[in-house]
Amino acid sequence: MTETGDGRGDAAAPAPSDPIAVGSEGDLPVVLEAAGLTKHFPVRRRGRAALTGPRRAVQAVDDVTLTLQRGRVTALVGESGSGKSTVARLLAGLYPRTGGDIKLHGETVNIKHGKAFRAYARRVQMIFQDPFASLNPVHTVRYHLTRALKIHGRAGDDLEKSLHDLLSRVQMTPPERYIDKFPHELSGGQRQRVAIARALGADPEALLADEPVSMLDVSIRLGVLNLLRDLKERLHLAILYITHDIASARYFADETMVMYAGRMVEGGDSETITQNPAHPYTRLLIDSAPDPDRLVGGAAELDPGEVPAERGAGEPPSLIDPPSGCRFHPRCPVAMERCKTDLPPRFEVDDAPGHWAACWLYDGAAR
Ligand SMILES: Nc1ncnc2c1ncn2[C@@H]1O[C@H](COP(=O)(O)OP(=O)(O)OP(=O)(O)O)[C@@H](O)[C@H]1O
Ligand SMILES: [Mg+2]
Repeated sequence: MTETGDGRGDAAAPAPSDPIAVGSEGDLPVVLEAAGLTKHFPVRRRGRAALTGPRRAVQAVDDVTLTLQRGRVTALVGESGSGKSTVARLLAGLYPRTGGDIKLHGETVNIKHGKAFRAYARRVQMIFQDPFASLNPVHTVRYHLTRALKIHGRAGDDLEKSLHDLLSRVQMTPPERYIDKFPHELSGGQRQRVAIARALGADPEALLADEPVSMLDVSIRLGVLNLLRDLKERLHLAILYITHDIASARYFADETMVMYAGRMVEGGDSETITQNPAHPYTRLLIDSAPDPDRLVGGAAELDPGEVPAERGAGEPPSLIDPPSGCRFHPRCPVAMERCKTDLPPRFEVDDAPGHWAACWLYDGAAR
C-alpha cells in the first residue's frame, strides 16, 4: 500500500497536499480542484483574554483535497459540523481561505473584487439547502430567472424564450404555468427547481449543491436528485453533492468523499465506499443510516450498553481544540496508540482502484 498525499503535517500548520485526483476517472476533464484547502475561523476573545490569551480559531476545514470532474457527481458526506458547507463556500469563493489552493481548469482562483467574483460565479454556482430562504418572497419566478440571466449576460435577444428554456430544463412544464408565480405559490420541490434553474441561468460548469434535498418531503427528494443527475448527463456538469445521508450518495454520486471534524477521512467510488467502507468513521455512518432491513430485530434488540462501544458513539470533537493525531481516535472502536499522536495520511485500500482511507489500519508498512 502506498501513501497518496493528504493528511501530512501538523493540523495547525497545514501544508497543501499533492493535488491528486484520487478515485477519479482518468479521461474526464477536471473542472474544479482543491488542494490542501483550509479554513480557520478566528474566535472572538472577550475581556482580559482579548489582550493576553492565545489566539484561538475554529479549525473548520483542514487540508482538504478534492477534484470535481465534468459529467460526474462527487458526494461529500459527514455529520453536522464536519465542515461540508464550509468546503462548498470556499469552493464557491464565498469565504477567503486560510490556506490551500483552488484551481478552475488548472488555473489558480484568486478572487479580489466583485468583477472577478462574478466571472467565477458564472462558472461555479451554488445551490442551498433551503430554497424558500434563497428565493426572495416578494419576487416572481420570472424576476429571479431574468435577473440571473442578465447578471451573467445571457438574456439574449429573446428573453421569454430563454426563460422558458430554463424552466423546461428543470422540468417545470408548461413554463407559463410557473413563470409568474411567487415562491409561496410553489411546492418545496418546485422552489428548489427554480433555484436550480436560476443557477443554470449562469450556464455554469460546476454546481455545488449543499444538502439540496434535505428540507424537502421524502416523496419528492428522488425527483430533484433525478433532475440533478439528468443535468449532469445532458449538460455535463461537475456536481458536488453535500449530504448527511450516505445512502443517497450511493444512489446518486459516482464518487464519495467522507469528512470528519474538518478533515477528509475516506474516498473512492460510491459503490465501494458504501458497500466496503474502510475507515471506522465511515462504518459508523453507514451503521447509523436508516436501513429498513436492520429495523426489524436490529438496534432495538441490542443491549443499550453494547451500542456505544460497537458503534463508536460519542460527540464530534471541539474544532477549537481538536484531538491530536487522528481526530476520530477518541470515538474510534479500534484506535491504536499511534492514532492518538500521529495524523494518518491517505493510504490506498486494495479492494478497488482509487479507494483510500486516512487511517493507520491501512498502513502497509506497519503490517
Ligand atoms: N462563519 C463562521 N464562523 C465561525 N465558525 C463557523 C462559521 N461557519 C461555520 N463555522 C464552524 O465550522 C464548523 C463546520 O461548519 P459547517 O457549517 O461547514 O459544517 P457542516 O458539515 O456543513 O454542518 P451541517 O451538516 O450542520 O450543515 C462548525 O464547527 C461551525 O460551527
Ligand atoms: Mg452544512
